[in-house]
Amino acid sequence: MKLTSLTCAVALIGGAAWAGEVAPKDVAYTEDGAVEASLSGVAGDAANGAIVAGTKSKGNCVACHAVSALADVPFHGEVGPSLDGAGDRWSEAELRGLLTNAKLTFEGTVMPAFYKVEGFIRPGDAYTGKAPSGPLSPLLTAQEIEDVVAFLATLKE
Ligand code: HEC
Repeated sequence: MKLTSLTCAVALIGGAAWAGEVAPKDVAYTEDGAVEASLSGVAGDAANGAIVAGTKSKGNCVACHAVSALADVPFHGEVGPSLDGAGDRWSEAELRGLLTNAKLTFEGTVMPAFYKVEGFIRPGDAYTGKAPSGPLSPLLTAQEIEDVVAFLATLKE
């Protein structure tokens, strides 16, 4: 127990990855863009995944996708297909790959890569318009990705 809290404290202070977490640059993709291994090593929480998916400052998936399970969140977009039944259409590994970097599943897609910090073309700082000073953070954390994967897996036709 003591060791666990110490590890957490160190991770928070150092901004370092949690024990057992896969860093964005270390994610192993299959040929089809799927990711077999959990990014966090901790099982996803579908309820929190639903919150992440519906929250503007987090996944904001509803900006582009309709999702019947998130009917209480207003204004669903139609840029991408409805996510209803996504848990039937895709395996957990495929869903994880789609969230981590959708470009490897759908070439040239407008869907953001939610767990990627390198390889962008001139990323800008939203507030100053200048190049960001520090290293980029992924749009979602490893655990948030796992939570959204768990949520999507519950979306059956
Ligand atoms: C900027 C718009 C945009 C956002 C934001 C976005 N997506 Fe997508 N997504 C797309 C588009 C467009 C496609 C279709 C693939 C293509 O042809 O580009 C897609 C495809 C998908 C698919 C596969 C479609 C299927 O059969 O169900 C899943 C699953 C998915 N997105 C999940 C998500 C989740 C979960 C989030 C939030 C974490 C998200 N998307 C955020 C645009 C977006």
